[in-house]
Amino acid sequence: MKPLVEPSGDGGKSVELESIRKDFPVLEEVVYLDNAATTQTPKPVVEEMISFFYEYGANYGRGAHILARKTTEAVETARETLAKFLGASPEQIVFTKNTTEALNLVANGLEFKKGDHVITTQLEHHSNFIPWTSLRRKGIEVSIVEPSTHGMLSVKSFEASIRENTKVVAFTHVSNVFGTIQDVESLVNLAADYGALTVVDGAQSVGHMEVNVKKLKCDFMAISGHKGLLGPQGTGALYVSDPEILEPSIFGGGAVKSVTVNKVVFEDPPYCFEPGTPNIPGVIGLGKAIEYVKSIGVKKIEKWERELGDRIRKGLQEIEGVTVYGSGTTGVVPFNIRGIHPHDVAIILDEVFNICVRSGHHCAMPLFKILKTEGSVRASVAVYNSKYEVDQLIEGVENIASNMG
Ligand SMILES: Cc1ncc(COP(=O)(O)O)c(C=O)c1O
Repeated sequence: MKPLVEPSGDGGKSVELESIRKDFPVLEEVVYLDNAATTQTPKPVVEEMISFFYEYGANYGRGAHILARKTTEAVETARETLAKFLGASPEQIVFTKNTTEALNLVANGLEFKKGDHVITTQLEHHSNFIPWTSLRRKGIEVSIVEPSTHGMLSVKSFEASIRENTKVVAFTHVSNVFGTIQDVESLVNLAADYGALTVVDGAQSVGHMEVNVKKLKCDFMAISGHKGLLGPQGTGALYVSDPEILEPSIFGGGAVKSVTVNKVVFEDPPYCFEPGTPNIPGVIGLGKAIEYVKSIGVKKIEKWERELGDRIRKGLQEIEGVTVYGSGTTGVVPFNIRGIHPHDVAIILDEVFNICVRSGHHCAMPLFKILKTEGSVRASVAVYNSKYEVDQLIEGVENIASNMG
C-alpha cells in the first residue's frame, strides 16, 4: 500500500490542507473519494458531541433543570448558526434527520387539492423524486422534466411543463450524479411567474459553495448535515421561507401547545415540525461543523473542490476506454470504464488501490435511463482531499482500464 501522507509541496494552495487533514484521522488509512454519499467528520465536531454526552446530555425543550436548559440552548445556538449561514432566520430552520425527511415534510405538509400540478425532474435523487410522484395517489398530476445528457436542466423545458395550476416546482441545486450546478434563480423566477412554490434540493450544494436562500428566493430548501457541511450523519434541515404555508405532517410530543380529546394546538414554527426527541448530539455537532466550514471559508472550499474535480475529469478523460459523464464543474465526477461493471471498478479501486468511491445508480435510477446505462462509478471530493489522492485515483483507473478494459 502506498503511503497516504501528503508529499510536501502538494498541499492545497487555496486551503490549509495539511492542518485540515489532521482533523480527519481516517485519511491516513484510505483515499476517501465518496464524499457525495457522506463526508468524514472533523475532530472538533466529534469533540463537541462528546462534550454533550459527558457534560450535559439531557433532553431538549422539555425540562426546567440546568442540564435540559443547557441542551436546549445548545440546539437553539446550532439553529441560529445554520440560519445565519444560509441567510435565513432561526424560525425558518427545521431540523430533520436528513435531506430525505426535509423533502418529505414539504411534499406531505403542503395543502394540495385534486387536479393540482407538480413538476420534478429526471435528474433528481430519489429523495426529491418519489415524494412528488407519490402524490399521484392523491390525484395530483406530476410532470417530469428531462435534463440534457450532460446533466443540465434548461429553463425552456420547465416552460414547456409549467401551467397556471402548477403548485410546486422541485429540482436539485447540484446534481449528485453529474456535479452540475443548476440555474436556481431562473427556475425560481419562472415558478414565481406562475405562482408556484419552489423546492430546492441543496444536499450537494450547501457547504460546497455559497448558498443564500434569500438571494435564491426559493420557498424551500432541503439540506444535508453530513455532506458539504461536514456534520454528523443523521442530521439535515429544511429551510421554509414562510412557515405559515406548511402544515405539520409528523405528529407527537414536543410540538404542541395544548391537546384535548378533540383539539390540538400546535407550537409555533419551527417547533411544530419537530415532534419527538431530535438528534440532539447530531444537531449540536452540526452547529460546530458549520463553524468549522466557515473557519476555512466556503469560497475557498468551492475553489479547491472545483480544482480537484477538474483534475479528475481531465485525468480520466485522457484514459483510453474511460467515459466521463456530464458537464459538471464541481467535485463530483461520474465515469465508466468500457467493458467493466462499475461495481467491479469500485471493488478493484478499494481492494487493490485503497481508494473508496461509489458505484451504482446513486439513487437516481430514472436518470440512468437517459444515459442508457445502469450506473457509473462516482468519485467525489471534499475540502480535505489532495491532488496527490486524486492522482492516485487516475493512476488506479488507468491501470484497471489498460489491464482489463
Ligand atoms: C442530491 C441529493 N438529494 C438527496 C439526498 C438524500 O440525502 P440524505 O441521505 O441526507 O437523506 C442525497 C444523498 O446523497 C443527494 O445527493
